[in-house]
Amino acid sequence: MADKKSDWKETTWVSPSNIALIKYWGKHGEQLPNNPSLSLTLKNSVTKTKLRYRRLDEPVPDSEDLKVAYWFDGERNEAFERKVANYLRRLLPEMPYLTSLELEFQSTNTFPHSTGIASSASSMSAITLCLVDMEKKMGLRKPPTQDLSRRASHLARLGSGSACRSVYGGWVTWGEDGLLPDSSDRYASPLEQDIPEQWQNLRDAILIVNSDRKKVSSSAGHGLMSNHPFAEGRYRQARKHLNCMMLALQNGDEKTFVEVVESEALSLHGLLMTSSQDGLLLQPESLQIINAVRAFREKTGLMVCFTLDAGPNVHLLYRDEDKEMVQQFIQEELLPFCENKQWIDDEIGEGPYKEEIK
Ligand code: PMV
Repeated sequence: MADKKSDWKETTWVSPSNIALIKYWGKHGEQLPNNPSLSLTLKNSVTKTKLRYRRLDEPVPDSEDLKVAYWFDGERNEAFERKVANYLRRLLPEMPYLTSLELEFQSTNTFPHSTGIASSASSMSAITLCLVDMEKKMGLRKPPTQDLSRRASHLARLGSGSACRSVYGGWVTWGEDGLLPDSSDRYASPLEQDIPEQWQNLRDAILIVNSDRKKVSSSAGHGLMSNHPFAEGRYRQARKHLNCMMLALQNGDEKTFVEVVESEALSLHGLLMTSSQDGLLLQPESLQIINAVRAFREKTGLMVCFTLDAGPNVHLLYRDEDKEMVQQFIQEELLPFCENKQWIDDEIGEGPYKEEIK
């Protein structure tokens, strides 16, 4: 049957990336984390996704035939489309009606995709928020879901673990822990405890050391933890770090905060480096930045510290009130180590939002 334009409906969501301070690395079952994690949701590094959807006359006969198209920056992206189709198949037990719909996603990122910045958290959370909104608008969930964010977080987790944290703004935890009321391995939660003001205006300068795609995909990396000789120690360390971090946040203890954040980053890379030859992701420039950050902290007494994703780029965390001094330091001492002097000026953000149709 020819397309009838009027059949199509749409919804658009903007969802941010997040940076973990306590890292999730190692999983089991259906994308369940082996330790709790804690992240900051960013503001400027976002994915914007428009979902156009319409009902099919007949459901597709087989889940392999789901009707989905994925466009990135105005071009059909078949590699990511396959990833999205796989994700949708994983959602079928929760969203069985997906076989009766045609879906078309159109996405863009604010951050250049040549920066090697992981976009799975922002892209998977944006896709999921669109789906959950569509489900609500079409009345497809019976009884209707009360807490849309929680449902989106639970479903986004199946697309990419860290995506479940991007559904909320500010400080977010994911993974069951006795210290955190309401914590779950299945979905993330915004940090309930009042976070003192001093931690609410952190900034994140993302220093692009190398924009190549990473050699170890997240799923391969998580997989390498299953037989890793340090695994049990790592999971104990992560819980201990979370405990220390929660106390540090409450007590305004900057020294512990910095120690925990940097130790988490280096532990992640320690695990990576000792799991596979491809796990040596840090580059000489990453280490030069790390050393320069530590020397700058020593010299100025400012609260600056680094963290890392599973890649060579360095995230520099600092306070908004120190912006002028820190950004001068970045310009003068860190950009020489960055690829084409590239960096992303980001900060803690309020989480995803829906773009209303004008
Ligand atoms: O969400 P994934 O499967 O891409 O894994 C994310 C892993 C880290 O970014 C290294 C840590 C984290 O907690 O975000």
